[in-house]
Amino acid sequence: MSRDIIYCAAGNRVLIVCGIIGVCQREKLVLGEPIGSFLKKALQRLEYRGYDSVGFAVIDKDRRITLRKKKGKLAEIENILGFDAFDGVVGIAHTRWATHGEPSDRNAHPHIDCNGCVVVIHNGTLQNYQELKELLISRGHLLRSDTDTELIAHIIEEKIREGLTPLEALRETVKTIKGAYAFLAYICKEPDKIFFAKNVSPIVIGLGNGFNMIASDIPAMISHTKRVIVVEDGEMGYISPDTIYIEKDNNTPIDPMSRVITVDWTPEMIDKGGYPHYMAKEIYEQPIAIRSTLAGLPDQITDEILRILLRARRIYIAGAGTSYHAAMVIDFMMRNIVDLDSRSFISSEYLSTLRSLDDNDVFIAVSQSGETIDTLMAMRRAKSMNAKVIAVTNVLGSTIAREADYKIYMRAGPEIGVAATKTFATEVITGAYIVEKLCLVRGIECSQLSKEIRISPSITELIINKYFKEMESLSKILKEARNMYFLGRGSTLPISYEGALKVKEISYIHAEAYPAGESKHGPIALVEPGFPVVFTIFDDEYGELIINNIEEMKARGAYTIIAASENLERQLKLANKPIALPTMRTPVASAPYVAIHQMLAYNLAVSRGYDPDKPRNLAKTVTVE
Ligand code: F6R
Repeated sequence: MSRDIIYCAAGNRVLIVCGIIGVCQREKLVLGEPIGSFLKKALQRLEYRGYDSVGFAVIDKDRRITLRKKKGKLAEIENILGFDAFDGVVGIAHTRWATHGEPSDRNAHPHIDCNGCVVVIHNGTLQNYQELKELLISRGHLLRSDTDTELIAHIIEEKIREGLTPLEALRETVKTIKGAYAFLAYICKEPDKIFFAKNVSPIVIGLGNGFNMIASDIPAMISHTKRVIVVEDGEMGYISPDTIYIEKDNNTPIDPMSRVITVDWTPEMIDKGGYPHYMAKEIYEQPIAIRSTLAGLPDQITDEILRILLRARRIYIAGAGTSYHAAMVIDFMMRNIVDLDSRSFISSEYLSTLRSLDDNDVFIAVSQSGETIDTLMAMRRAKSMNAKVIAVTNVLGSTIAREADYKIYMRAGPEIGVAATKTFATEVITGAYIVEKLCLVRGIECSQLSKEIRISPSITELIINKYFKEMESLSKILKEARNMYFLGRGSTLPISYEGALKVKEISYIHAEAYPAGESKHGPIALVEPGFPVVFTIFDDEYGELIINNIEEMKARGAYTIIAASENLERQLKLANKPIALPTMRTPVASAPYVAIHQMLAYNLAVSRGYDPDKPRNLAKTVTVE
């Protein structure tokens, strides 16, 4: 699989989440259908991006605005919203994945200003949200939602009130906001236009006859045009039925026609944003997901959270499946780096593990979905014993988040593939960030940890780009294997478990993980010539200890695959398949290095003819005990 099939530079740098579509037509029905029907179909093509609510605004020739929005999935609420009944000359629509404010009708987009004259939809997050919100409230604006998006509408409103033209108001707004955004604004002063601005979040213009459109992704427009312009960071402007205006750096106009490209996509490529499977898409999204997690953590890891962790008598960290493996990494760092009394456990074992907690203890629930019943039950038991409860989750407003005393969101974007990928990496990075802060409070030297947290997105990117094809070739060699081992020691044990889980759940090859030192106490009995054994090694104190275990496996004829820091030449030389990775010395390496296991599992599934997105007998969210 090649990255070239991703349509624009922005597409692989940006968290794929929320969908935007906007269209201006010269007359009603230029699109060949009511504008509401067009918007609905466009949103359906953006559903793959993930969302929790839907909304649209349709404006007719006499500037009457109809705005409808609701929490829920399109299929459930399309009739309530009644898209097909609305026609007009301008339309904007949005699928929202909550970042600021829970998923709800009132937080769904579009958002309007105080006068109902500016209508905005937006992807991304505004970093200076709090500051802007306070400022706007102090100036008497009436905010009707908890979103950062609504602030944009009110800022434009102010600028228009000061006498600026809509384009000037847009320029000033972009100077005021900080963060990632792609937004569309209808401003009733110039009613045939849709204004836009972009920084980081993707946006693409589609060219037509008697209409122009703009969307967060090409699939939304493909039914009406294949001629597109990819808007770049720092650009803004407007579309009208017959004009496209783009400027850069706040007033240097750009010739849009010099940037027109013609795309030729298959429906399969469209639905998965250009990737053959959601799992591949989510593996590739990891660098940006980690960046997004890191950007969101400083505001969330409060002094109070750090205080309760440092004062805790015991810290219990629970998760299921992949989230348990992330819990293991977090536990390892808390014990070995901060010297806290922590322990990780598989959530479903809560009865035997949580015996005598009290308010001196802390319980951390790690869960992508925030709904996994085993983790929820463990959390409730810990809470019933008065332990303080922290949730680390990806889904805003999920049950685990709601019931916890403290919540930390990963903001990794929606994960659709059943096999967890980017949420493992972001759970680990969340834990590493907390550990870093704990070290700083305690005065523990952690410069290597800090450095590795910051470089983990670029190292993950490098590993994925360099090794995807190699894992595809390796999968061809291993695809007939009936069993595999993943062996690690100390810091690399959790991702060995994660590798074995990924391989078994999607490729159906029986895979087990063990502490490498334990392998000689039984598991080695299965090893015969050609038996694949994957070793994972960071450049830390365990890197040396594992050499004997590799030799033991080689002596039985194992096919050794060694994913190790590139400076560990002696270890890498022992491999049938060496995988030399950028040198890392702390458990933060679990996030970038796990990509090797994910890519191997993914390619094994594909080579064996299975769909990695639909593993048998598994559900994305497990809500029965
Ligand atoms: C494995 C996988 C599952 C989940 C587990 C917990 O690829 O996806 O093992 O990790 O069901 O789910 P969350 O993290 O939603 O609690």
